[in-house]
Amino acid sequence: MGNCWGASIKAFQSQSSIRPSSTGMSKNNSNEGLQGSSGFSSSKEEVFPEGQILPTPNLRIFSFAELKTATWNFRTDVILGEGGFGKVYKGWIDEKTHGHVKSGSGKMIAVKKLNSESLQGLQEWQSEVNFLGRLSHPNLVKLLGYCWEDKNLLLAYEFMPKGSLENHLFRRSAAFQPLSWNIRLKIALGAARGLAFLHTSEKQVIYRDFKASNILLDLDYNAKISDFGLAKNGPSGEASHVTTRVMGTYGYAAPEYVATGHLYVKSDVYGFGVVLLEMLSGQRALDTNRPAGQVNLVDYAKLYLSERRKLLRLMDPRLEGQYPSNGAMQAAQLTLKCLAPEPKNRPSMKEVVETLEQIQAIKDRPTESRTNPVRPVHHPTSNGHQYHKHNRTPLHPKRNGINGGARAHQLPHPILR
Ligand SMILES: Nc1ncnc2c1ncn2[C@@H]1O[C@H](COP(=O)(O)OP(=O)(O)OP(=O)(O)O)[C@@H](O)[C@H]1O
Ligand SMILES: [Mg+2]
Repeated sequence: MGNCWGASIKAFQSQSSIRPSSTGMSKNNSNEGLQGSSGFSSSKEEVFPEGQILPTPNLRIFSFAELKTATWNFRTDVILGEGGFGKVYKGWIDEKTHGHVKSGSGKMIAVKKLNSESLQGLQEWQSEVNFLGRLSHPNLVKLLGYCWEDKNLLLAYEFMPKGSLENHLFRRSAAFQPLSWNIRLKIALGAARGLAFLHTSEKQVIYRDFKASNILLDLDYNAKISDFGLAKNGPSGEASHVTTRVMGTYGYAAPEYVATGHLYVKSDVYGFGVVLLEMLSGQRALDTNRPAGQVNLVDYAKLYLSERRKLLRLMDPRLEGQYPSNGAMQAAQLTLKCLAPEPKNRPSMKEVVETLEQIQAIKDRPTESRTNPVRPVHHPTSNGHQYHKHNRTPLHPKRNGINGGARAHQLPHPILR
C-alpha cells in the first residue's frame, strides 16, 4: 500500500506542479501552481460567462491546521454530508487573508476530507485538483484550494447553501421543500450547460459521474456540477471513445460503458437522462425499497415517457400537477433520447441545452393531474430519513444484476404489469 501511494504521487507530480506540503507550514507564497496567492479570483465568471480553461490550477494551498480551525476541528455538527471520498464539512475563513476567523463569521467554505480507508482517494483527489482547478464556468462548482500534508488530503470548495439536488428531490424535511417545475427546469438547464461546456472545451472532458448528488445548488438554485474525481479527457485523434476501468454509480452509468468499458462523451448524456427522469418522477435512479421490477428507474419508467397519459402517472406527486403538460411531454421525449441504448442516437449536450431552453419558454396551463383519476406508479410516501449510500466504484460489468435481486422476494407486489 505504501509503495502504491508513493507511485501515484510520483505520477501526479509529473503532470502537475502541485507538491505535498510539509506538516504545519504555511504555503501562501511557495506554490508554483498557484496564481495570485493574495486570494481567490472571484470575478472570473463575470469576465468569462461562457467559461474558460486556465493554463495552470488557480488554487490556494491550505495548511491542515487552517482547515482544521476553519471547520472547528472537523466537528460533527458542521458535517454537510458524506460520500465515497470522505466527509464534507462546513467551514469559515477570512475572506481576504483566508486565515482563522471567529466562529461562524467570514466566508463559508465546504471542506472535503479524505477518509483514510478510501483506496481510490488519492487518484480522485488528483483528478479533482487537475480538472476543477483549471476549469472555470458558472455551472461548475469552484474549487478554492487544497491541502496535502503527509497523508492528509483535503479539498476546499465554495459553499453551496442549498446543498445537493439529491437532497431536494428525495429528502423529506422542512429544509427541503418540493421543487417547483420552473426550479427543476432551471437546475436541469444549469447542469446541462455545465456538461456542454466540458464536452465542447478544447480538451474534451468526459465527466463520468453525473448524478443528483453531484449537482449542487446556490441560494437561487443555480446548479453547479461538483466532483471531478472520475473525469477523463475525451478521445484523442480519430478515436471515438476511451477505454477505462468501469467506474461510476449504479443506476446512472450508461449501458455500453458498463458492458464494455468503452466510455463516450455520450455516456455522460445517458447519466443526464437518468437525472432528468429522477426530476420528472421524483424517484431515485436505484431504490431497493421499490417493488420488484421497479428497482432500476430507467428499466421500468422508460415505458411511461412516450405517452401523455402514462407520463401523468409517472410525474412526481410533489409537483401537485403544477407543470405545463406540453413542457412535461417535451421533457419526457428529451429524456428518452438521452437514454437511447446506442450512444450515437443520444443528443449532444448542446442540443440538450437548446431543447431545455425551448421547454423553459413553454407557459401553457398546468395539467389537471390532481383531479384526474389517473393511477400513479409506485411513489414512496416517505423515504426522508433513509440514508442512501451510493453504490459507487468500481462497477463490475459482469455483476449479476443490481443488488443481485437478493431482496426481490421481500418487496411488495409490483403495481406495473
Ligand atoms: N461545496 C459544497 N457545498 C455544500 N454542500 C456540499 C458541497 N460539497 C458537498 N456537499 C454536501 O456533501 C454531500 C456529500 O458530497 P460528496 O460529493 O462527498 O458525496 P456524494 O456526491 O453524495 O457521493 P459520491 O462520493 O459518490 O460523489 C453532498 O451530497 C452535499 O450535500
Ligand atoms: Mg459527490
